[in-house]
Amino acid sequence: MISSQRFENAKVKSFTRLVNIQTQHPNYEHYILVCQSGKCNNGENVPSVLEELKKQLEEKNLIDKVFFSAVPCLGICSDAVNIYVYPTSKSNTGTIYSTVNPNDITTILQEHIENGNIVEELLTKIVD
Ligand code: FES
Repeated sequence: MISSQRFENAKVKSFTRLVNIQTQHPNYEHYILVCQSGKCNNGENVPSVLEELKKQLEEKNLIDKVFFSAVPCLGICSDAVNIYVYPTSKSNTGTIYSTVNPNDITTILQEHIENGNIVEELLTKIVD
């Protein structure tokens, strides 16, 4: 169960990680940060998600537009794998997706990155 307080902490942690990465890699249109800590790294999903991201970004010719990286904890430590995708549509916010597995990468790239739509079924659940 994720409290709204915990979700706020997750947003802060995720955004802090993003700002640090954007400072070092400023020339990308989108950023995808994949948590590789704790529960998110319990099993094969993190390496598989990263591998699938790289493969599909290369296939779609998006590798120079979309930065992706494994990062430390994003602050939502259940429902792994958690990833942070920035920006969301034309706004200056990001989106945290949970329970991401390699099969979800096609949908995230097509819907969020290419079409600017949030992938509702993967959104982190906010439970009070
Ligand atoms: S361990 Fe992945 S979000 Fe905290």
